[in-house]
Amino acid sequence: MKFLRSIPIVIILGGLFYALWSGILEPSEWKVPQSAEIIKAKVGEAQLIKEGSKIFKTSCAACHSLRYKKIYPFFVNAPNVKPLFKILMKEHNGFLTRDVYESAFALQLEGLKAAFGSVPPDLSTAYVYLGEGKLFNIIKNPQKVLPGTKMPNMQLNDKQVLAVSAFMKTAILPTAKETSRRHLIGIIVIIFFIILAILLALYRKVVFEEDNIEE
Ligand code: HEC
Repeated sequence: MKFLRSIPIVIILGGLFYALWSGILEPSEWKVPQSAEIIKAKVGEAQLIKEGSKIFKTSCAACHSLRYKKIYPFFVNAPNVKPLFKILMKEHNGFLTRDVYESAFALQLEGLKAAFGSVPPDLSTAYVYLGEGKLFNIIKNPQKVLPGTKMPNMQLNDKQVLAVSAFMKTAILPTAKETSRRHLIGIIVIIFFIILAILLALYRKVVFEEDNIEE
C-alpha cells in the first residue's frame, strides 16, 4: 500500500500547519491578557466596534490611514491638500488605492516620516498580519513590541485598546454574525453536493439497468 507511506508526512505537515495557524507558537507576552478577554466578552463586539471607530478617528488618524474604511490622516484636511483630496475621493468612490494615495500625498507622508522616522503605515490589514494579540500589545505599549519605535503610547485602557482593535478588524474581516452566516452557507453547499452525488449515483444505476449494461 503505497499511500500508507505518505500518512506520516501528511500528519507532520498538517501538524505544522495547525501549529502556525492556531497561534500555539505565538510568544505568550503577545497574547491578549485574560483580564481583557473578560472585558471583551462582557461588553460585546458591536459596542466595542462603535467606541473603537471614535477612538481611531480622533486619536490614531492623526498619523495613520485606514483606507479600507475610508479614513485618512488629519493632514488631508489641511487647506493646501483638501481640494485635491476631495477630487480624488470623488473620482475613486472614496477608496484610494495605495499608489494613488501615496503619490498624491507623498510630500505629507515624507513629513510624517521626517517626524517619526518611518511613515505610520496604513492599518487596513494590520489586524490580520499582526494578529489580535500582537496588535493589542502594540497599541497598549508600542515600546514593548517594537523597541525604539516612534509610535507613541496612546495611554489607552484595556477596553479602549480592545475597541480600536475590534474596529480595525472590521476593515479586513467580516463580523462574527457575517462569519456564521458564511459558515452556514458553506454547510448548505456541502449538503447540496452530497445530495447531488447520491441522486447522480441512483440515476446512473437506473440508466445502466435500462440499457442492460453490466457494471
Ligand atoms: C503621532 C503619530 C502616531 C499616532 C497618533 C499613532 N501612531 Fe501608530 N505608528 C506610528 C508610527 C510612526 C509607526 C511606525 C512604527 C515603526 O515602524 O517603528 C506606527 C506603528 C503602528 C502599528 C504597527 C504597524 C506595523 O505594521 O508594524 C500599529 C498597529 C499602530 N501604529 C496602531 C496605532 C493605533 C491603533 C493608534 C491609535 C490608538 C496609533 N497607532 C496612533 C505613529 C503613530
